[in-house]
Amino acid sequence: MVQTAITVQDLCFSWSSGASVLDACSLEVPKGEFWMLLGTNGSGKSTLLRLLAGLLSPDSGEIQISGLIGFVFQNPDHQLVMPTVGADVAFGLVEEKLSIAQVRARVTEALAAVNLLDLQRRPIYALSGGQKQRIAIAGAIARQSEILLLDEPTALLDPDTQLDLVAQVQRLVKSRGLTALWVTHRLEELNYCDGAFLLENGRVVAQGEPERLKQRLLGETKLSS
Ligand SMILES: Nc1ncnc2c1ncn2[C@@H]1O[C@H](COP(=O)(O)OP(=O)(O)OP(=O)(O)O)[C@@H](O)[C@H]1O
Ligand SMILES: [Mg+2]
Repeated sequence: MVQTAITVQDLCFSWSSGASVLDACSLEVPKGEFWMLLGTNGSGKSTLLRLLAGLLSPDSGEIQISGLIGFVFQNPDHQLVMPTVGADVAFGLVEEKLSIAQVRARVTEALAAVNLLDLQRRPIYALSGGQKQRIAIAGAIARQSEILLLDEPTALLDPDTQLDLVAQVQRLVKSRGLTALWVTHRLEELNYCDGAFLLENGRVVAQGEPERLKQRLLGETKLSS
């Protein structure tokens, strides 16, 4: 039987204004796989990720998460809080009350995982957008997150850096046995994932094979233009 890292069943969520965002939404992300979440602006992708991370509470339905979550936001400037790379990754470990040696080991290992060990002492302001996103991912790895939720992490990146980042997350998922759910609007990113969900009117209306979803969305774009 396939183990799932994320299971969502009949999830309903409305804002206090009464506007419904998710309406009996269900999905499963298999453990150790890289899945993407697509849907038009306002379809509820970010809201779903926030519910999965426990930042919002559902009105009804079930969420099962098997592992520690790491969240990566669209804008890394909202996430990186310390002056330097090493300090930022270490900052995420404060609650674990580790020894200095343990913190150093975790930080070194996490920065090596995203190929940025040589930037450990670099000020955050002197990083590129792609490097900042990789530091945010290193933060999650240092905290030993097993499930990465990434909300349009490439939205602010140029096309080359964008594909580097998605390829890197694909490699991390496979080499470390992580599970990732990645929100995107960019169809070329689908080439890197194991499967994808299409969110529409508060529900998953299509899922599975990335190529099939890509063709469906390309068809819809042609029809509407
Ligand atoms: N804090 C909030 N209070 C009230 N309504 C909100 C709030 N945040 C988002 N919404 C509304 O909830 C709906 C879903 O928003 P959400 O941000 O989840 O969409 P999305 O799929 O992530 O869109 P995008 O592709 O633009 O990022 C939208 O109609 C949005 O206007
Ligand atoms: Mg969003």
